[in-house]
Amino acid sequence: MIRHLYDNLMKLAHFPLTGTVLISTIKLNRINRKKMMRRKLVVGNWKMHGSIASNKVLLADVVAGVRNLDAADCVVCVPYPYLCQAQSLLQGTNVAWGAQNMCSTNDGALTGAVSPAMLVDYGCTHVIVGHSERRNLFHETDDTAAARFNAALEAGLVPIFCMGESSEERESDWTEYIVGRQLDSIIRRYGPHVLENAVLAYEPLWAVGSDKPATPQQAQEVHEFIRKRIARCDAQVAAQVRILYGGSVTPANAAQLFAMPDIDGGLIGRASLSAQDFVPICRAASQS
Ligand code: PGA
Repeated sequence: MIRHLYDNLMKLAHFPLTGTVLISTIKLNRINRKKMMRRKLVVGNWKMHGSIASNKVLLADVVAGVRNLDAADCVVCVPYPYLCQAQSLLQGTNVAWGAQNMCSTNDGALTGAVSPAMLVDYGCTHVIVGHSERRNLFHETDDTAAARFNAALEAGLVPIFCMGESSEERESDWTEYIVGRQLDSIIRRYGPHVLENAVLAYEPLWAVGSDKPATPQQAQEVHEFIRKRIARCDAQVAAQVRILYGGSVTPANAAQLFAMPDIDGGLIGRASLSAQDFVPICRAASQS
């Protein structure tokens, strides 16, 4: 009931003309039929792992392993203290680097915070925004995640905006409501066009760090839902935006996941900490 009320309110707020929604959906089908090619993207999320010594080995192995992959983009999001190291070891390679979070303002009396401009200073191209661990362990909300998302864009960074439901929410059939609400927190504030310069990541909480990945079909269903929801506002943006899957991706399941029509790569946690795992995942993306 609440879900339907919410959905109807969203439609009224954004899509006053039902015709617009229909035309957008028809356009999306047409664009999809033309097989709009979205370049695959694999992002490593190191979380709070690493050391100067171990990073040196890992980054050298990743650079060597992905050197000849030209059909996918590869990014590593490292802890703040290692941004300088990432910059010096990755400059001039085909591995880009980024951060796992940032503040939504550029300076101020904010002890412990790191600004978007600081990330740009260290050559970051990407930043993860609204990861479930930030939402759940550090009390980040839709509002604060949306503000960070916008600040990243304003700084010229590509935000990787994370969405996903808990296992209880999935069991109660609330997946689309939760993911839709998180997506709408961006679209409602900034419009669909901002997604042109962003990346989305579907990361079901029950799959993150759990060894229980979503099946390719389960992930595809939600990715398709996300793309269709964007298409209600802008079919072109929906067809272009890259939507990554995250949650227990491994070399064993990557190819099947990346073969799904709406899965454009992965956000990789544990498997990004070893080149032996991360490189084959990047290879699977490049070959899919
Ligand atoms: P995982 O983490 O690959 O270890 O499940 C994914 C993530 O949290 O981004």
